Amino acid sequence: MFKRISGTKDILPDETPSWQEVEDLGRKVFSLYNYREVRPPLLEEAKLFSRSLGEFAEVVQKQMFLVKNQDELYALRPEATASVARAYIENNLDKTYGFLKLYYTGAMFRLERPQKGRLRQFHHIGCEAIGSSLPEVDIEVISLANRLLEAWQVNNYTIKLNSLGCSEDKSKLSLNLRKALKSNKGSLCEDCKVRYEKNTLRILDCKNEACQEIVSKISLEEKHLCPECKAHFETVKNGLQNLGIRYEILPQLVRGLDYYTRTIFEIKHDALGTQDAIGAGGRYDNLLKELGGPDVGAMGFAFGVERILLASCGRLKKPEENLVYIITMGEKPKAQGLRLLQDLRREGIAADTDYEGKSLKGALRRANDLRAKRVLIIGEDELKKQIVTLKDMGSGEQKEIKQEDLIQSLRGANGGCEAKPKQTSS
Ligand code: HAM
Repeated sequence: MFKRISGTKDILPDETPSWQEVEDLGRKVFSLYNYREVRPPLLEEAKLFSRSLGEFAEVVQKQMFLVKNQDELYALRPEATASVARAYIENNLDKTYGFLKLYYTGAMFRLERPQKGRLRQFHHIGCEAIGSSLPEVDIEVISLANRLLEAWQVNNYTIKLNSLGCSEDKSKLSLNLRKALKSNKGSLCEDCKVRYEKNTLRILDCKNEACQEIVSKISLEEKHLCPECKAHFETVKNGLQNLGIRYEILPQLVRGLDYYTRTIFEIKHDALGTQDAIGAGGRYDNLLKELGGPDVGAMGFAFGVERILLASCGRLKKPEENLVYIITMGEKPKAQGLRLLQDLRREGIAADTDYEGKSLKGALRRANDLRAKRVLIIGEDELKKQIVTLKDMGSGEQKEIKQEDLIQSLRGANGGCEAKPKQTSS
């Protein structure tokens, strides 16, 4: 028997309504902010990610799902920012639109050690606003992330904010960190000893307790920022305050992907244990140019859908369809039932039937299992009288309805059961 690959998940029919609700609410909110959907492919040239995220980024070094095709090396996308940037450049969207606000949903792949909230195939819902370096865009993007969390009924989260500054500022930050860590270098974990030489900022992300303890004592506050980047960050902070969006400044926040510059943020949730980041993002003003595109700034974020669902604690559920279940008894009623089934579906009423010729009791049990709200019963008697028997599964009430009044009645506010019920056995 085949089993699913470790770190992947079957999202079963009982779970899909909450997934659909996250996506539907997401689409609605993105549209309100005038973001348009983009669907880049799941496969990209592997080099796109090493160039964008950085050769030494953990995602690139250890977590890429690589697909070899003759001489080409492809990767299942570990994130979508690089893909969206590539699509923006390749399709000349700068020339058509200039500044463009895009959103996406879909599967991402990272070869990580699976645990609660950490999968190998997981799902992002995110956005990229490409073509502007203005701090007002950062304010909109962060407020949009905040609005999404409200729509998804996620509580108890904190927005952690920092600014890395421009490339020069990042180098300065890295240098400041090296200086500050020099005396403690020997106490860092083995990975961080390598990071110290090759990619010092990554030490700030290390999960090792000893490293975190050392890092927590270092003061990094905005000393690396040039006047322009400092002013940019001030505008972002003031703009968020103006909109009533709460955040915490976290000078240790650097993020694990190399493309970031200036504003970065991560959203943490109280109840998720070690995998507590429900979403994250930031500005990447150099990426488009580095990938051969125009010299324009960009900013975005992505939420992990699995973690959003954990954080929303089961509150998200798409309302169930008002399913109508048709039960027929006898050959002629069956043919009439199938015509009625087609009519109801055409009229936009969700409907199903029992094809297996179950007894009335068995078919009612099936209707109950399917959580049908109403059942239509058609037997020889109903056919002769040109009526159907309508049973409300909630109250158990039953009544007879003329065939021509049926659609109207099913559309009625309380399921067509407003008339005085007639008690019949079932
Ligand atoms: P990221 O922080 O790597 O950023 O991923 C964003 C979110 O995806 C995380 O906060 C987390 O909720 C979720 N996530 C990441 N890895 C996993 C996993 N293995 N299992 C489950 N959930 C996971 C990015 O990917 C950037 N592209 C975000 C961005 C967009 N920055 C600018 N624009």
